Amino acid sequence: MSNTLLVHWPDGEAARFSTLWLRDNCQCADCRVIQTQEKRFHIASVPLDYQPSQIEIDDSNFVITWPEGHRSRYSRDFLVNCSAPQRADWQPWPPSFMPTGIDFDAFLEDKDAAIEGIQAFLKDGAIRLLKAPTAPNTLEALSRRLGPIRELLFERIHNVQVDPQGYNVAHTNLPLPPHNDFASYSWPPSVQALHMLVNEAEGGLSTVTDGWAALVSFRETCPEHFDTLTQVNVPFREFDEHNETFAVAPMIQLDALGAFSIFRYSNQLMQCLNPMDPTTSAFYEAYHVLSSRILSGDFTRSFRLNGGEMLLVAAHRVLHGREAILSAGKRHLQDAYFEHDNVRNMLTVLSRNYD
Ligand SMILES: [Fe+2]
Ligand SMILES: [Zn+2]
Repeated sequence: MSNTLLVHWPDGEAARFSTLWLRDNCQCADCRVIQTQEKRFHIASVPLDYQPSQIEIDDSNFVITWPEGHRSRYSRDFLVNCSAPQRADWQPWPPSFMPTGIDFDAFLEDKDAAIEGIQAFLKDGAIRLLKAPTAPNTLEALSRRLGPIRELLFERIHNVQVDPQGYNVAHTNLPLPPHNDFASYSWPPSVQALHMLVNEAEGGLSTVTDGWAALVSFRETCPEHFDTLTQVNVPFREFDEHNETFAVAPMIQLDALGAFSIFRYSNQLMQCLNPMDPTTSAFYEAYHVLSSRILSGDFTRSFRLNGGEMLLVAAHRVLHGREAILSAGKRHLQDAYFEHDNVRNMLTVLSRNYD
């Protein structure tokens, strides 16, 4: 293989490395900005067919001398660490799953409780915070653990109550099928917090649906339909008289390795696909099969969210919804949005402060 280097360790193990990767990842003080630990060396400063002049190997390191005399040392531990997977693992819900409940005050004040809550959130994509205040805008306090609020149009803290002037089906007493919010943004908010201030209504149970678990089963049983939903652009729109949000994206977005990145699913915000486009019919078959699976209940858990309780969802994975509100008792929910990157940052920072 051209432009690779086969290294034989003295114990007999062999490993092959990209030559340009090796040059790019020299850890020496000339190739890094020591103050910030950032990379200083630039790959375009060497030719495409760059090759070592000399290699020296011992049990746990090898040293390359490059044509200009620059020397790069690589420890075996460093090379092993670099090959570890870089994405956090999520896990589909077991049959008995209900979102973990954590005391609201403990989540904010106690490091152990915060770490436990964030770890459960990253694994399950949903947790509940219990015994929270019922004052409006209490969601602002979550910034301490979740990072800054992701502001979107309409409101900073969104109010959901039955409202004849409301801009969204959530403001009626109709059931809300599983969905994620703001599919009409090209980067929809990746964390949503729902805070029940008061819930005296009958019905209106909250639901969470493990969208990624549904996609795993969909990909296994209907791979062609799955592929279709990664390939067809779908328009989504949310608007009122002051705002107009619109995005076009496939329902299922994957990373370069095929792992789930964003599942965008909102019956209420989805707009007309082009009826003349020949892919529309294939899209609709795939969309029907997936939607039947989402609505089957197999991936959904429902529970009553009482006044003073919050639900946090990883919104690119977990869909939320609610059953129909049956009586007109007072019910007031507030929503705010955060970003998953910032939540993961908090876990790193909290864990680091321990050491
Ligand atoms: Fe919603
Ligand atoms: Zn160097």
